[in-house]
Amino acid sequence: MEKYKISGSHQLSGEIKVAGAKNSALKILAASILSNETCQITNIPKIEDIKRMTEILESLGAKITWHDSTLEINPSKITKSTPDSDLVKKLRSSIMLAGPLLAKFGEVTMSHPGGCIIGKRPVDLFMSGFKAMGAEILDHGESFTIKAKKLKGAKIVLPKISVTVTESLMMTACLAEGTTTIINAAMEPEIPALADYLNKCGAKITGAGTPQITITGVDKLSAGTYELIPDRIEAGSFVMLGLATNSKIKISNCNPAHLETVLTILKNSGADLEIGPDYIITKTSHLHGTDIQTHEYPGFPTDLQAPFTVLMTQTNGRSLIHETIFEGRLFYTDKLNTMGADIIMCDPHRVIVNGKTKLYGKKLESPDLRAGMALIIAGLCAQGETIIDNIYQIERGYEDIVSRLKNIGAQIEKINE
Ligand code: UD1
Repeated sequence: MEKYKISGSHQLSGEIKVAGAKNSALKILAASILSNETCQITNIPKIEDIKRMTEILESLGAKITWHDSTLEINPSKITKSTPDSDLVKKLRSSIMLAGPLLAKFGEVTMSHPGGCIIGKRPVDLFMSGFKAMGAEILDHGESFTIKAKKLKGAKIVLPKISVTVTESLMMTACLAEGTTTIINAAMEPEIPALADYLNKCGAKITGAGTPQITITGVDKLSAGTYELIPDRIEAGSFVMLGLATNSKIKISNCNPAHLETVLTILKNSGADLEIGPDYIITKTSHLHGTDIQTHEYPGFPTDLQAPFTVLMTQTNGRSLIHETIFEGRLFYTDKLNTMGADIIMCDPHRVIVNGKTKLYGKKLESPDLRAGMALIIAGLCAQGETIIDNIYQIERGYEDIVSRLKNIGAQIEKINE
């Protein structure tokens, strides 16, 4: 089994480039099905989740070609609308294929998706959106079928803000008859990015990035080329890494405008950050304990909650971390306590971090993608050796993380044990 071996407590220095956004890439790959022409996406991160998505697309009949970090997808030979259930279960984002396959073929049958274990993560809101557009849902237990001869535009009010539901309904509505309005839509930067891509292919979407999105259906979509936006979660994780290890590192190729809230909270906590148009430099800082509450964009992202919690273990004072989006996303804090942190769980949504504590290297298992990155940061702060197991979870979302961290002086390697 491959693991990461980390020797911590060393300062880092240099520059680390941010890769293209995973959560944008996955949706744009799914959206490529809506057209019959070849699309070209650049700045694609080479990560396990993207490999799984391309495997699913290939198994449906799409032709995929890689040229460095550019991906060409020719969907013209897709004839199946039943993605392989083993592949679907490996990737929660496979749910993003349901809408495009339904819109294109009038029917889709797929297994319930897998993915990170961070709470219940139901798919009810996807289904009620499809129903509102005239689809019929047949639940077979392990799998479901969605059918609609012709999807019709609808007014869809989301009872809860959801990123993937907003994206899924937005792309499905592109080929529906008439106009769809999504009210209480999510506003994450990946949503206007997806709308930009679809509009380049001939879709008619307005309002993406606001709580109300309007989509006027068109008969077909054409070819599109698109450069992915930088991964704001990766950028934010590297900022926490720089601050937690008291290092001066330059995080380049990023878009600080996508991290306004996070950067403001960090600055208010005492972080000394130099922020440029496409880079952030972390400097030696004296932070104090700070409370956060995760929130939909533009609030503090749930995906940066775990790296921030590690940073707070290295900060003087008390911090209350309130995770409002997912119910199982704080259990990794037990692992930080085994390393020497002083974190008290108040309830499944809230922990109190008492800092600053020394961390000591431990053998740990990565519970999910984002907590996995947090454990790497903890390992790099800790005295002694940390071994992290279950690294597939980390490699799902971070490209070539070992070499990139080594380039800024981290003592991390992949071992087989
Ligand atoms: C997406 C991101 C993930 C991020 C999250 C919140 C992708 C691939 N993943 O996940 O990295 O942590 O947004 O920013 O883009 N919900 C329902 N019913 C549904 C769908 C969702 O109740 O049908 C609930 C979820 O359980 C959760 C909340 O809505 O409590 C928000 O989830 P959502 O925004 O959909 O998160 P994901 O799309 O799963």
